[in-house]
Amino acid sequence: MSSGESAPRIVPALPAHMPEIVAIYNAAMEERIATSDTEAQTLEDRQASFERLRDRYPFLVAVDGEEVVGYANLYPWSPRAGYRFTAENAVYVRRDRRGTGLGRRLLGALVEAARVAGFRHLVARVFEHNSASQALHVSFGYRKIGVQREVTCMDGRWYDVGLFERILR
Ligand SMILES: CC(C)(COP(=O)(O)OP(=O)(O)OC[C@H]1O[C@@H](n2cnc3c(N)ncnc32)[C@H](O)[C@@H]1OP(=O)(O)O)[C@@H](O)C(=O)NCCC(=O)NCCS
Repeated sequence: MSSGESAPRIVPALPAHMPEIVAIYNAAMEERIATSDTEAQTLEDRQASFERLRDRYPFLVAVDGEEVVGYANLYPWSPRAGYRFTAENAVYVRRDRRGTGLGRRLLGALVEAARVAGFRHLVARVFEHNSASQALHVSFGYRKIGVQREVTCMDGRWYDVGLFERILR
């Protein structure tokens, strides 16, 4: 049950959080605003990737009472050794909690966790029509490198994606 009285806490993700994380991800996927996945992610796949990456890649959740209301995580940009200090980031806020400052808190905490974990370069790929996410990343010092035009196709429609970088020193 939601406490409704204090701000959600940002804490490291646990396996028990994964069902709500999958629900948040799949709901955003349906909106065609945040990911190029077109099929719902399964809990098994999410649990497996969480276990595979959790030692190295920070994964944070925003928890309000017992509810997960958002999350932010890092994952590999490339498996090639030279890119080991580079990660891509994701940030998702449950639809009914957007616009309340949670995305800002989650991304801020994730950037700090990335720094502590020794990452040097963060990448974000953001749809050109996702103005909320583009503004959020820019406000955290991400630089827009460019736009990949017609790089993804969903429901028979082509989409442009902005590419952002953030150097951590
Ligand atoms: C993008 C997202 C994470 C932002 O989180 P949020 O909690 O709604 O955002 P916040 O309330 O923390 O606002 C942070 C900043 O984002 C921007 N922003 C948020 N909502 C916005 C909107 N509707 N339009 C334009 N900018 C917006 C603003 O720059 C805002 O800063 P400000 O309040 O100082 O102006 C959230 O909207 C979301 O989960 N969207 C669906 C998933 C997604 O798109 N993830 C990113 C994939 S690249």
